[in-house]
Amino acid sequence: MAAHLPDLRSPDWQQQQILLVDDNAQNLKVLYETLSVMGHKLLVANSGLKALSMLKATSVDLILLDIMMPEMDGFEVCGRLKAHPEWKNIPVIFLSALDDLDAKLKGFEAGAVDYITKPFQSREVIARVATHLRLRHLEWQQALANARQQIEWQREQLAQVARLATLGEMAAGIAHEVNQPLTAILNYTSAAQRLLTKPAPDSSLLGEMLEKLDIQARRAGDVIQRVRTFARQPSGEATALNIADVVRDTVLFAEVDIRRLKGQVVTEVEANLPSIKLDSVQLQQVLLNLIRNALEATAEANGESPVILRVRRMGILLQIMVEDQGSGLRADIADIAEKLFSPFNTSKKDGMGIGLSLCHTLVQGQGGQLTYRPNQPRGCRFVIEFPLVTAT
Ligand SMILES: Nc1ncnc2c1ncn2[C@@H]1O[C@H](COP(=O)(O)OP(=O)(O)O)[C@@H](O)[C@H]1O
Ligand SMILES: [Mg+2]
Repeated sequence: MAAHLPDLRSPDWQQQQILLVDDNAQNLKVLYETLSVMGHKLLVANSGLKALSMLKATSVDLILLDIMMPEMDGFEVCGRLKAHPEWKNIPVIFLSALDDLDAKLKGFEAGAVDYITKPFQSREVIARVATHLRLRHLEWQQALANARQQIEWQREQLAQVARLATLGEMAAGIAHEVNQPLTAILNYTSAAQRLLTKPAPDSSLLGEMLEKLDIQARRAGDVIQRVRTFARQPSGEATALNIADVVRDTVLFAEVDIRRLKGQVVTEVEANLPSIKLDSVQLQQVLLNLIRNALEATAEANGESPVILRVRRMGILLQIMVEDQGSGLRADIADIAEKLFSPFNTSKKDGMGIGLSLCHTLVQGQGGQLTYRPNQPRGCRFVIEFPLVTAT
């Protein structure tokens, strides 16, 4: 699809440029004066070769091309345009005194969009030029919308692949987390079975055991539920979220890494935060990425301090901060500010280096901002800010 994009440098309707090509100076002058009332920028060339060399230097949205010219006639100029990857979509209108059907057909075959017969009527020329510029502008807008959609789609796909990769990394820990309640369930079940072999089983004790079984089964179910939520393709729709719930679920989900890295996560969530419209799966992915990075940096520095996840309201902003007192950013990772959030920038042996860049685009995609500051006295602080529009 990218190959089909018209020139994306010509966004504004008024800024569109028209190239007039005619070997006759008088014709050029009349055309120039006729079209100058439209307010577009006009360029002129008195030969086909000059027209082609001008195209190398500037972008053009429409070409009015004389057919009968010495050296290179209009058909040949048009053929060269259509064979050129960057120029082939520029609309061409032929100008000619040849008012026969064959010449017109030959013009359309060469790829022209229209044909004006000389001597021309000013109003006709203006009307035709305006129509083709408008079409070109619409085509440009459509192509831009398509390109945006394509980028959006690719970002969603990348985020989904990254979520599955994260789940893959966490699989052993998740299995362990499900296994714990399952082991407890087996133990309670055999204890209950033993109890039932007694002549007068203590029903209140049995009731207690069933209650514990219930708790453990739910615990296992919750882990599975969190995995399923995280692996889900987001609807792309923002819903009014209770941010405290998302934070709690994410930290529970990060339990696997907390155990693996022998770390700690402390949350400080301000009370009575208004709900905020965001995509919960994407927000969870961003927070999990930042928490995992912070836990890894703390472990790398053999640090003892917990990772702190703070959520508060700052005027019209909702601020979420992930702070650690770990190793801090390595100099080569962030020697320029943009580099930190570029993909494939990693200091880890098995790192993919897409976490932060994805966090950055996901937060931006939801109307927020992700920034980095050094933490005091050491480590990193990542700050996410979303404008608060209080759900009513
Ligand atoms: N909290 C942090 N403390 C220190 N360095 C960090 C922190 N977060 C990110 N980084 C640095 O940024 C790099 C990129 O992070 P990320 O995009 O998540 O990729 P990955 O974790 O796969 O390396 C990391 O390799 C690390 O060097
Ligand atoms: Mg990471």
